Amino acid sequence: MKYFIVTYGCQMNVHESEKIATILENKGYQCGQSREEADIIVFNTCAIREGAEDRVFGNVGALKKLKRKNKDLIIALCGCMTQKEKTAEYIMRTFPFVDICIGTFNLPKLGDYIDAVKFGRRQTEIWEEGDIDETIAYTRTSGDNAWINIMQGCNNFCTYCIVPYVKGREKSRKEEDILNEVRSVLKEGKYKKITLLGQNVNSYGKDLLPAVSFAKLLKDICLIPGDFTISFMTSHPKDLTDEVIDTIANEDKIEKYIHLPAQSGDNRILKLMNRKYTREDYIKIIDKIHAKIPNCRITSDYIVGFPTETEEEFQRTMSLVEYVKYDNIFAFMYSPREGTVASKMDGQIDEKIKHDRVNRLLALVKRLQKEEK
Ligand code: SAH
Ligand code: SF4
Ligand code: F3S
Repeated sequence: MKYFIVTYGCQMNVHESEKIATILENKGYQCGQSREEADIIVFNTCAIREGAEDRVFGNVGALKKLKRKNKDLIIALCGCMTQKEKTAEYIMRTFPFVDICIGTFNLPKLGDYIDAVKFGRRQTEIWEEGDIDETIAYTRTSGDNAWINIMQGCNNFCTYCIVPYVKGREKSRKEEDILNEVRSVLKEGKYKKITLLGQNVNSYGKDLLPAVSFAKLLKDICLIPGDFTISFMTSHPKDLTDEVIDTIANEDKIEKYIHLPAQSGDNRILKLMNRKYTREDYIKIIDKIHAKIPNCRITSDYIVGFPTETEEEFQRTMSLVEYVKYDNIFAFMYSPREGTVASKMDGQIDEKIKHDRVNRLLALVKRLQKEEK
């Protein structure tokens, strides 16, 4: 029996798919090379922008033919998109050949849903919250890099973002559990890189008793003997402490690289986004990083066309990008997500304007990268 997993979205989903592979292998499935030869196909979905969801709808629709050829094929959808009840209902209604449609917190029970489907029942279940999934992925797929989850969820409620609604509130894993996973990964001998994952790694451990800081976690991982490097994502500028910057500067094992999403260079828009820092705060952090960590690579995410964003405000994003001299940025056109605060704001921006702004921003980054060389 073969499985095939299709993954959308961020690195956390890539890692989650490794856990899905582990669950499937424990049930006797082996990794297949294509959808055609699979006995079970799992779509691990993303809800961050409308485009991500449209791709899932299109690709799920295309499975109808396969199911006609192979009646026993099991089709399962999980992840951030199917955590939304309305979307899950729509999928079950529109695609009668989908067998399993579950939320993010139901994933550890995937094996049970598969058993139930074999008895002929379609399965859909969405839990509103859940404990941290401590499944250890032994089927790692990213070469010599091992992803390690340090926390789940997000408390920030940036007004454009769906993540807090589909991943729940911030919960940190126990430090000892993380250290043990790092040790066991290193013992395997094939991993040279450890990448720590969380939506907001800088607030790691605030919810633990006693509290543990992200800087302490980093230092404790560095104490583990072995020849390996550590990186992490994502950092929220409001929580990036001096102690973390100093730790990156002082520890040889930590990669000199920070992904620090700014989202906008304009204070009015940052406020509307609920990002809780100003352009000036952000610049201060960047200057500190440059001063303390020479040659530190810095990347960022930006959103253009947030509701009511004017041309002048967009120009302030352009000028911030020009100031920082990033190694790279990801630029996104704002995509309204149902249920978020920003999706209900007046002054939604025309698609044409969003396209134009994203193109100008990307052209700027290209020019700056050329000038650097
Ligand atoms: N937790 C991370 C980012 C997670 S989502 C952080 O806070 O930085 C990855 C990126 O997707 C975000 O940084 C943002 O730039 C983009 N994004 C999130 N919601 C979006 C939306 N509704 N429209 C467009 N881009 C969005
Ligand atoms: Fe979304 Fe903001 Fe949380 Fe990042 S910090 S996941 S952008 S709500
Ligand atoms: Fe990641 Fe997409 Fe979910 S970016 S957290 S998979 S909504």
